[in-house]
Amino acid sequence: MTEHDADGDVVLLRRAREAKVRAYAPYSGFRVGAALRTDAGDIFVGVNVENVSFGLTLCAERSAIAAMISAAGPRTLIDTIAVVGDGQDALLPCGACRQVLAEFGPDTRVLGSGDGGVPIVTTVGQLLPRPFSAVRLGQGRNRDDG
Ligand code: THU
Repeated sequence: MTEHDADGDVVLLRRAREAKVRAYAPYSGFRVGAALRTDAGDIFVGVNVENVSFGLTLCAERSAIAAMISAAGPRTLIDTIAVVGDGQDALLPCGACRQVLAEFGPDTRVLGSGDGGVPIVTTVGQLLPRPFSAVRLGQGRNRDDG
């Protein structure tokens, strides 16, 4: 499969849509599913996991990233992530998720979708220009040494 394969995008969007039904969203009622493909070609999914304290809510994108790192390890990078939210309007990652996504690939493609319609296709770099990065800290030892 090529990196920007349209069939691959369809698969990711379908996996995100399928994951969405498993979201834990009793407070907002707004379910989100995410599916990402790593540079190695593996797919991981996540859903939003809400909490009664509201502020502890985990977005679907960060939930998928946690699954990815847990299974594939700290050197993993994201080629493409698809996000699907309830409703017709295309959903793109929130600001916090954009910062977390930037950690695993500024060139990561982002497909934002709702239940219908044409997905928005963009990149993490376009969504979050000039992110705060490990280069600024002079760090990144975890990935280099891991
Ligand atoms: N949410 C996500 O999962 N991803 C986003 O990019 C935007 C928001 C979730 C968090 C919360 O459970 C619900 O959507 C409403 O904000």
